[in-house]
Amino acid sequence: MSKAIYARLTGSGFSTFVLCFAFAMNLFLSSLLFLGVLSSFIFLIFIFHNRRPNSLNLPPGKKGWPVLGEAVEFVSLGRKGNPEKFIDDRKKKYSSELFKTSLAGENMVVFCGASANKFLFSNENKLVVSWWPPTIEKITISSKNTTNTIGETKQMRRYLPEFLKPEALQRYVEVMDCMARYQLEAEWIPNTQVKVLPLSKKYTFAVACKLFMNVEDSEQVTRFAHPFTSVMAGLLSVPINFPGTAFNRGIRAANRIREELLPIIRQRRSLLSEKKEMATGDLLSHMLLATDEDGKFMSEMEIADKILGLLLASHDTTSTVITFVIYYLADHPRVYAQVLEEQMEIRKSKGPEKMLNWDDIQKMKYSRNVVNEVLRLAPPSQGAFKEVISDFTFAGFTIPKGWKVHWSVYSTHKDPKYFLNPEKFDPSRFEGSGPLPFTFVPFGGGPRMCPGSEFARLEILIFIHNLVTKFKWKKIIPDEKVIFDPAPIPVNDLPIRLASL
Ligand code: HEM
Repeated sequence: MSKAIYARLTGSGFSTFVLCFAFAMNLFLSSLLFLGVLSSFIFLIFIFHNRRPNSLNLPPGKKGWPVLGEAVEFVSLGRKGNPEKFIDDRKKKYSSELFKTSLAGENMVVFCGASANKFLFSNENKLVVSWWPPTIEKITISSKNTTNTIGETKQMRRYLPEFLKPEALQRYVEVMDCMARYQLEAEWIPNTQVKVLPLSKKYTFAVACKLFMNVEDSEQVTRFAHPFTSVMAGLLSVPINFPGTAFNRGIRAANRIREELLPIIRQRRSLLSEKKEMATGDLLSHMLLATDEDGKFMSEMEIADKILGLLLASHDTTSTVITFVIYYLADHPRVYAQVLEEQMEIRKSKGPEKMLNWDDIQKMKYSRNVVNEVLRLAPPSQGAFKEVISDFTFAGFTIPKGWKVHWSVYSTHKDPKYFLNPEKFDPSRFEGSGPLPFTFVPFGGGPRMCPGSEFARLEILIFIHNLVTKFKWKKIIPDEKVIFDPAPIPVNDLPIRLASL
């Protein structure tokens, strides 16, 4: 633009300068005013958020930043591989039994120690009920399903015992054994090096697909498995449902899994109603036949939500334990030797081809202790949440109705008061009467305790039997770092070198 035209448009040079100066000052002052108002607002929220109502003797602790609370520190300590520090620091600073914080946007009290666990687990449905962050509810329950997670689990308790009772578990031994053998032959034997974490996930997912809904086709299993990473990432994400966010990806991935599930459920329902198929004893047939108090069957979408929830509850948890059994056995040759001896004895008593049975599982006493010690040191689930349904007092402090409570495995599993030399990997802790009650809680406790604990142990022991009787192994990265996100993950997926026995 020429100078003449510019001058005509803007007036003389001086008036242009005055105008620009006035405009800049205006902008500067308005920004100052805006920042002033904004910071006072944040300050007021901060004061309000952390204020301590005089009338209630709330537990000690601080709630951190508005909205975020102390979530950033909670998450970042896990990512640094030290999730128990969040609890330990506050136990030292405030109280060894409980402290106040804010997580998932909620007023929260963290209960610590064996007596706090006992109090919480025995007051389920009296003072507290199970609660999950809204992200989990939104992803695991479809918009077409009108129930919430509390309703969901109540219904679940109606058909799940049938699927998980000891007689049913006995029937799964051979299926799990068969699938472990198949997995090892297909994915482990042909290689001298493998990454343990993805392969363990493959095994537990295949077992779940087979035993939950009789799906064996590997392409179909892969179609289910593929969206799971996004679902898992969405579960504990920031609850902003906007294209591109982890939460949004989680919701869409869960919908894709439901779309895969619905035709399977429909087909099985019609085969069952036409009596062309007998109930197979898998989870899906228990669900299709289960009725509520009024004799009403579940809708297809309700069943799809429940299978999705169970795939989530069972798959990453169990595969994490398998991964860490392999991780710790590589580091502890004496423990490995004892596991090998126990498993070889079982194998020799049967010959190479014969499948495992329920009696064999009962003989795996030492290996079971190893699995327990892994569950203590690398628990796949950090704990769970409850919602307070009426004001109550614990350890002299009041916890108001509506507040959330978090119990954490880290408040006991690594406390030297309960476990001598807590960092030491020592399966002998589980010999005899084992740890004190309410100190070893990888599956929770009370009425909401994980109903799949024995299913998981079975699946893990069967895989370990097949692995140790075929291979020995070495870690490729001896000091591979472990992060907690929130489950423990070896950052390189635990690459190992394999050699046949
Ligand atoms: C090593 C593997 C597993 C671990 C560490 C684990 C851990 C947990 C924990 C800590 C809870 C929360 C308990 C509470 O709210 O107090 C839970 C709940 C649950 N788990 Fe597991 N779990 C595992 C495997 C499984 C398996 C294999 C299944 C199913 C076959 C399963 C099904 C469930 C269900 C349905 C719930 C909800 C129970 C309710 O709210 O009433 N879990 N699990």
